[in-house]
Amino acid sequence: MITETPMMRQYNEIKRQHKDALLFFRMGDFYELFFEDAKLAAKVLGITLTSRSKGEGAIPMAGMPHHSSESYIRRLIKAGYKVAICDQLQDPDEAKGIVDRGVTRIITPGTVTEDTLLEDKSNNYLMAVLETNSMLGLSWIDLSTGRFEVEDIQKELLFDEFARLNPSELLLPEETVRNNTSFMERVRAECDGIVTSRPDWEFSKDTAYRILTEHFGTTSLEGFGCEDLGPSLGAAGAVIQYLRETQKTSIKHIGKIQKHQTDNRILIDKATQQSLELTQTMRTRNREGSLLGVIDQTKTPMGARLFREWVISPLSISAEIKYRQLGVKELFEKSELRRELRNILGNIYDIERISTKVSCGRANARDLVSLKQSLSKLPALKEKLTFCISDILVSIEQQIDVLDEVRTLIGTAIVPDPPPMIKDGGLIREGYDATLDELKYISKNGKSWIANFQAEEIARTGINSLKVGFNKVFGYYIEVTNLHKDNIPKTYIRKQTIKNAERFITPELKDYETKVLTADERAKDLEYDIFIQIREQVGAFTPQLQKTSEAIALIDVLSALASLAVENRYIMPEITDSLELKITDGRHPVLDRKLVGESFVPNDVNLDGINDKIMVITGPNMAGKSTYIRQIALLVLMAQMGSFIPAREAVIGTVDRIFTRVGASDELSRGQSTFMVEMNETSNILNNATERSLIILDEVGRGTSTFDGVSIAWAITEYIYQHIKARTLFATHYHELTELSILFPGIKNYNIAVKEWGDEIIFLRKIVEGGTDKSYGIHVARLAGIPKEVIQRARIILNNLEAATLDVNGKPKFAPMKSAQDKKQTAQLKLFVSKQDMVIEEIKKLDTTKISPIDALNKLDELKKKLEDDSEL
Ligand SMILES: Nc1ncnc2c1ncn2[C@@H]1O[C@H](COP(=O)(O)OP(=O)(O)O)[C@@H](O)[C@H]1O
Ligand SMILES: [Mg+2]
Repeated sequence: MITETPMMRQYNEIKRQHKDALLFFRMGDFYELFFEDAKLAAKVLGITLTSRSKGEGAIPMAGMPHHSSESYIRRLIKAGYKVAICDQLQDPDEAKGIVDRGVTRIITPGTVTEDTLLEDKSNNYLMAVLETNSMLGLSWIDLSTGRFEVEDIQKELLFDEFARLNPSELLLPEETVRNNTSFMERVRAECDGIVTSRPDWEFSKDTAYRILTEHFGTTSLEGFGCEDLGPSLGAAGAVIQYLRETQKTSIKHIGKIQKHQTDNRILIDKATQQSLELTQTMRTRNREGSLLGVIDQTKTPMGARLFREWVISPLSISAEIKYRQLGVKELFEKSELRRELRNILGNIYDIERISTKVSCGRANARDLVSLKQSLSKLPALKEKLTFCISDILVSIEQQIDVLDEVRTLIGTAIVPDPPPMIKDGGLIREGYDATLDELKYISKNGKSWIANFQAEEIARTGINSLKVGFNKVFGYYIEVTNLHKDNIPKTYIRKQTIKNAERFITPELKDYETKVLTADERAKDLEYDIFIQIREQVGAFTPQLQKTSEAIALIDVLSALASLAVENRYIMPEITDSLELKITDGRHPVLDRKLVGESFVPNDVNLDGINDKIMVITGPNMAGKSTYIRQIALLVLMAQMGSFIPAREAVIGTVDRIFTRVGASDELSRGQSTFMVEMNETSNILNNATERSLIILDEVGRGTSTFDGVSIAWAITEYIYQHIKARTLFATHYHELTELSILFPGIKNYNIAVKEWGDEIIFLRKIVEGGTDKSYGIHVARLAGIPKEVIQRARIILNNLEAATLDVNGKPKFAPMKSAQDKKQTAQLKLFVSKQDMVIEEIKKLDTTKISPIDALNKLDELKKKLEDDSEL
């Protein structure tokens, strides 16, 4: 039988309480992992798997020096694991038996606060989800900034919120994780974060209410406007309890809880966020190449985070948009001011996250110095802003607190370039603390003190040969030769007799000795204590620091937008409450910057939202349909962020939502032919869009057979026109849809002009009114070198198909019409006439009573040639 060593017993006990984390067990200068943890860490980190003791009782073990543990922890967290840090709670020298150990911190993907573990340009959210019969309760927090929010939502919105917030960790009740398998499957598919199951009771409303009021030190949640929350209250409670358990430090920087405001924002659902490539591209999922990647020019991390938020939840209320716009406009016009502000902002660190670290007791002296340096820029920033007149800039100026006392405190207490460790001294400036200075003086100047002491004693006793010496047994001593025996003062205490002399000590000398010998140790300890004190003093300013960071983030975003507008010749769109959507010479914000060689061709849009509501856009593949409709969506979105836009002129009646739906085969990233997904998302649009929405449909219906697809696309458009009445842009290669305009005056046909040039198609990239009658598919196939026989056969089939789309009266079967038909309709119908039909039409038109036999023969020959000629599609 193998007996457990006391240390392994201690390990096992601690591990039992942290089953779902990798336990980093401190042993001397190492962190060690055992058993399964060791195997897993060895695999994930590529570190050596060894074993503790040999033979039958061998225990798998892997470890790393404690000072290099950060980078290993980072990799584990990135890979979605949790790490529990178990430290020695006691100086090993003082321990009787085994050293006391305990978990000092649990690091999980949703609760990290280290810079090295965080992206500085986006928030890192921990989110709790509580499902009830009717609603979902959500609560999320970015621990690194202290921002804590709650929201009760309709169930189907959960995945849009996942897309918006991208939580890195989800807290769910055990019950849900265990029993609600279909929900959990969906959650795991839609959310990249890890799932952590928590006891059900932590989500109970009563517990939550108690925990939250306790945390905020309030009697109710009235002050936060959160008194009447639904299930999200339970979720918020679960968040705080989880943080208490994992953090083991103060979380008091979480100063408030906010009800997430949705009524002044445009909801951008997940499909829209993805297909418009707002924060990452579809293909590579990189920030680079996305709208955010291209237009974000912020200088500070808090600015970058706010910018991202503006992009994914633009405003819906015109007054709020204009409030931002005027700020951008002022900075757009005042170039000198804008440059100066951006210079200053470039020297400001992430004070939002630093202040959190200060408050949690995790900041080191370097963090404080960075904070001080950032704060030292604020007076200038504030001063520049005093010249501003727009309301938003004026309010930013008022919100910035220069926090002189914090800057002065750090400046006088902390050395300019401190080391990263806070226990090894070298942090505190000379002159800040007299005791510390004395200790440092002593440890540094021990020799001169001794010389001084010796001189004084010689003078006092008159013994010229008196010497101060040191040995390991007695420490410092005074040595007097036997010759001067009689002059020895009474205060000297005899310690040792040697051949010709005697050695003495005095209380003063012993005092000094203790001081010298321990001065260095004590100086380090004292420095640490002073540092902690200063950090706590700074921590008391957390609310002001948070408020100031918010203001800095805002001025950063506004000046970034202004600079973007200047550099790329953007204009300020006119925002109205009408249903108008009018953009002259609009450009795609991303392609406009990316296209090299070929320059971007600007395009217009002109919908009044009353008579003109829907654009059906046809044109061959690669003409630029998708680009055009996305461009319109992006310009509206940017305008509602408060940004200027790439155009010559624009009037934008605000939209309440932007919906985009991209046909299944255009979705590269998904890689699955999911007609079901396509239809789900379309149904979301049809059920939720309003007259104020903007709908972008790209090749919807493509995920199924042609006839299915055309029919569905047709019916959807009809429904939008008749029931929703939203402004809609529908790009399609089903040119059959152009017939919709025959039936409905508010639906207009557009196409992206192309020119045929010999065997080639030249893309003009210009949107023009009117439909196209050709899909050009076969043309493109020919250009691609598909064998001639195939091309010819395809043409015949196409002709047959097109013929079949007409009913017996020669009317399109898609559009059953009332008896009265106007000229326009007939003109449109021509588009559908196939070659055979054209020949028939011509025969019908012939007046056989008047035609000469030779003309008839010629005509017959011409018609025959027409039918044989395959140069025309
Ligand atoms: N207005 C434009 N100016 C210049 N190039 C454009 C423009 N619109 C589109 N393009 C180019 O054409 C390519 C194909 O456009 P896309 O919108 O995908 O075509 P479609 O959806 O009609 O097949 C784009 O990748 C882009 O490079
Ligand atoms: Mg396309």
